[in-house]
Amino acid sequence: MKVALLTGGGDCPGLNAVIRAAVRKGERRYGDELLGFRDGWKGPIEDVTMSLDVHEMRGSLPRGGTVLGSSRTNPYKVEGGPEAVKATLARNGVDALIAIGGEDTLGVAARLYDEGVSVVGVPKTIDNDLSATEMTFGFQTAVQICTDAIDRLHTTAESHDRVMVCEVMGRHAGHIALWAGIAGGASMILVPEEPFDIEEVCAKLTARHESGPYASIVVVAEGASPKEGTLSVASGEVDQFGHARIGGIGSTLAEEIEQRTGFETRVTILGHIQRGGTPTAYDRVLATRFGIAAIDAVHDGAFGQMVALQAGGIVRAPLSEAVGELKLMDSGLYHEVAEVFFG
Ligand code: F6P
Repeated sequence: MKVALLTGGGDCPGLNAVIRAAVRKGERRYGDELLGFRDGWKGPIEDVTMSLDVHEMRGSLPRGGTVLGSSRTNPYKVEGGPEAVKATLARNGVDALIAIGGEDTLGVAARLYDEGVSVVGVPKTIDNDLSATEMTFGFQTAVQICTDAIDRLHTTAESHDRVMVCEVMGRHAGHIALWAGIAGGASMILVPEEPFDIEEVCAKLTARHESGPYASIVVVAEGASPKEGTLSVASGEVDQFGHARIGGIGSTLAEEIEQRTGFETRVTILGHIQRGGTPTAYDRVLATRFGIAAIDAVHDGAFGQMVALQAGGIVRAPLSEAVGELKLMDSGLYHEVAEVFFG
């Protein structure tokens, strides 16, 4: 078979491990010819390809990013986009496509499947907010990077008796903030799922600092927002999938905390550091399992499906299920575990 791969959306540690595994099993076990499309859906729209084989993927397992490049291009927002994708697939003799991405990339894959394209999905996002899979690769790496950063913030915060606000990624879901906040011993974790009350935040910090020379670490997900009407926050420009470019809540929060409590406050925005560099061992293994499962799904003709992790095993789930609804943070974990340490 001729099997093409693409990676779409924000990059993520472990993407190369998926590609490497699919290529390896495809070429060596099934005798497939593999092909890469460059830069997400832009590749098949514009017919920009690159060769992919076992030799090409050598040394890629520990490398962050994606050898295929990525973009947030949406074929359904480009004039004649879906038709161009289908024509490119036919022109290149592609029998099946493996789309590796998050809700947007897989949402496009689901629509193309409905229109007759033979596509299999692989779930990817550091945010870990995709339904139908318990874990996406890249998440553990991001959490580890944030935890390491929070550990470092503790010592400087303690030396200066300061409040440190640490902004982490997580547009719609607070998985990264919750896990890194727990692992890093944060005094407060603010997430998109639970709009915060700035007065409450400040009251808790004040109480904490009154009982001794404490420093505080506040971990805030970039998508966290104040309760309606309590604080105004700027919003950024919108991409082809309708997502605003966010980031900035950390700075607003730090300013408000300093102003309202009088405690010296600093902000650290971890940004794309969370997405760059080498994947953790866990993410390499999960990504490798997904890559193998994806090429197997292609050969089983399981199109319109996504590979997923459920109860420790790799299963298949309909793409429509994966992109139907976002997987939000476990509020039980937030309230039962994290809140014990708040304030
Ligand atoms: O891919 C998910 C994500 O990392 C979000 O957490 C974040 O909001 C977004 O991507 C950033 O996207 P970009 O790299 O396009 O600025």
